[in-house]
Amino acid sequence: MVAAGQVRHVLDVDDLSPSELARALDLAETPDPPAVLAGRGAALIFEKPSNRTRNAAEMAVVALGGHPISIRGEEIGLGVRESPQDVARVLACYHAVVGARVDDHRVLEEMAATRAVPVLNLLSDRAHPTQALADLLTLRQHWGGLAGHSLAWVGDGNNVARSLVLAASMAGIEVRLASPPGYRLDPVVLDAARALGGTVVEADRPADAVAGADAVATDVWVSMGQEDHASARIDAFAGYRVDAAMMRGASEGAVFLHCLPAHRGLEVDAEVIDGPSSLVWEQAANRMHALRGLLVWLLGDGGR
Ligand code: CP
Ligand code: NVA
Repeated sequence: MVAAGQVRHVLDVDDLSPSELARALDLAETPDPPAVLAGRGAALIFEKPSNRTRNAAEMAVVALGGHPISIRGEEIGLGVRESPQDVARVLACYHAVVGARVDDHRVLEEMAATRAVPVLNLLSDRAHPTQALADLLTLRQHWGGLAGHSLAWVGDGNNVARSLVLAASMAGIEVRLASPPGYRLDPVVLDAARALGGTVVEADRPADAVAGADAVATDVWVSMGQEDHASARIDAFAGYRVDAAMMRGASEGAVFLHCLPAHRGLEVDAEVIDGPSSLVWEQAANRMHALRGLLVWLLGDGGR
């Protein structure tokens, strides 16, 4: 139960209850969303590059009547020129919401702790909740529902995996994971997903995770900020490329998901990502719709 006037934040998907998550998805498909940002600003901080998230967030804010201001991390020097707490307190003077893509998830927690303004994670080293929301929206549109389906994650147990596993578990999707040793999702996340009612299974081989799955998802092997470890990572992920043979092990009509940007020939073959099972462009488009739904929830019924 959220007290009246309490500021809500979305640092990961499990900051919402399963019913709130479903509500945000419904709001993402509302044809005439309320102008919850009319006459208000949205600060969007980016400490790392972005194509989809920045554009989707800016356009979602505009669709809700607001004015987005995108800010490069070095402009404000989060934690360098000014503490994250002070940045949040100041931005709260001008903006109804602060979204931030940060190197270190703790920066989001510090901004959120001020309770000055709702804080929305636009990707951190730990989580990527707005991506997971778009992925659920995409699967819901494709399948017509979510509960009872299964999803295989093949690859790095990273920020995108974490949020997707939690979101899928909240929506009743069974999750199977295949990651090389040393690159698996933190067992704490698996426990959290199970505590949310999820069925989460770790497989020793990608083929075992994918067998009979209704969706197969992956992400880059080298995330932003991990470039110094690229060659060790690429070696470690040999055998984890999603190719047509791997997809043939999934269920009939299985779909392929990737948050993008993608590296054809590394984590996925062109034949898969550019083939008929791929939903990656729907995912990219849904980033904007999901963000719009989430903002309506956060600044409307969820934020009060
Ligand atoms: N999927 C995603 O977050 O893309 P960007 O890094 O381009 O925002
Ligand atoms: N795991 C990737 C996702 C990019 C959208 C990264 O953090 O760079």
